[in-house]
Amino acid sequence: MAKIANRLSSNVSGEFFVDSGCIDCGVCQRMAPGTFDDAGEMARVFRQPEDRAAFDRALGALVSCPVSAIGTVTRVDSGSVERLFPERIDGPVFECGFTSPKSFGAMSYLIQRPEGNILVDSPRFAKPIVDRLEALGGVALLFLTHSDDVADHEKFHRHFGCERILHEADSGLGTRGIERLLAGQEAVRLDIDLLLIPSPGHTPGSTCLLFRDRYLFTGDHLSYSPAAKGLRASRRTCWYSWKEQIRSMERLAAYRFEWVLPGHGWRIHYPAEMMEEEMARCLGSMALA
Ligand code: SF4
Ligand SMILES: [Fe+2]
Repeated sequence: MAKIANRLSSNVSGEFFVDSGCIDCGVCQRMAPGTFDDAGEMARVFRQPEDRAAFDRALGALVSCPVSAIGTVTRVDSGSVERLFPERIDGPVFECGFTSPKSFGAMSYLIQRPEGNILVDSPRFAKPIVDRLEALGGVALLFLTHSDDVADHEKFHRHFGCERILHEADSGLGTRGIERLLAGQEAVRLDIDLLLIPSPGHTPGSTCLLFRDRYLFTGDHLSYSPAAKGLRASRRTCWYSWKEQIRSMERLAAYRFEWVLPGHGWRIHYPAEMMEEEMARCLGSMALA
């Protein structure tokens, strides 16, 4: 729980605050951009919520903060907001919230499908989100974009009995026992609407998931940057090979999609033609980075 004694002085006064436990993961700024922003090394409350909707967004950020660094001055019941997660983004795609410190606050997603639900990366194994996932039909498959964002995969596997998929180039001690390991760089069709696209660069085994030729789950390969007002791949957080990451982007640019749904960073929706242009622009900027 966030402690009022550790409240950062950068917060504006009022109900919500960020304390010194903040790890600057950016989750609160993406979930409640009207309340939280980045004050440098840590987040802060720059404006207190002024209506119920803004209050609930801020409360959603509070329950989703991976390190419980967001607090309220008075006692607030977050139960009604906890039940809003997973929160629908578009069609059958939801964001899970409840991020984990083990994945530095990476966002995970739920895809609801009649053939069985898919969890993309692992949220924190917290009762409210587990209960809601159960109510939405459980989890048949847990797809792990890369080794950084596996968080509580083992607990989700045990609870839901779901198969897990990860690229073998990213497997290690913490992911022993994963049911299905991908190999090589050829795309793998899991089903008519599901394509796994190995995208080495950020890590050797980073893999994107393309769903219905519309939603691209990118892990930490690619995200939207509000500062750049466009797609961005980060050389600073490229742990494996920038050259490989550029090659992966070139391969990815051949696919049609409209959504980029990352682990870290901002998601974005563009019409397919515009996404194509954005991918080309992003590739150009990667070559210069
Ligand atoms: S979600 Fe929590 S850890 Fe992440 S930036 Fe906000 S306050 Fe800091
Ligand atoms: Fe990562």
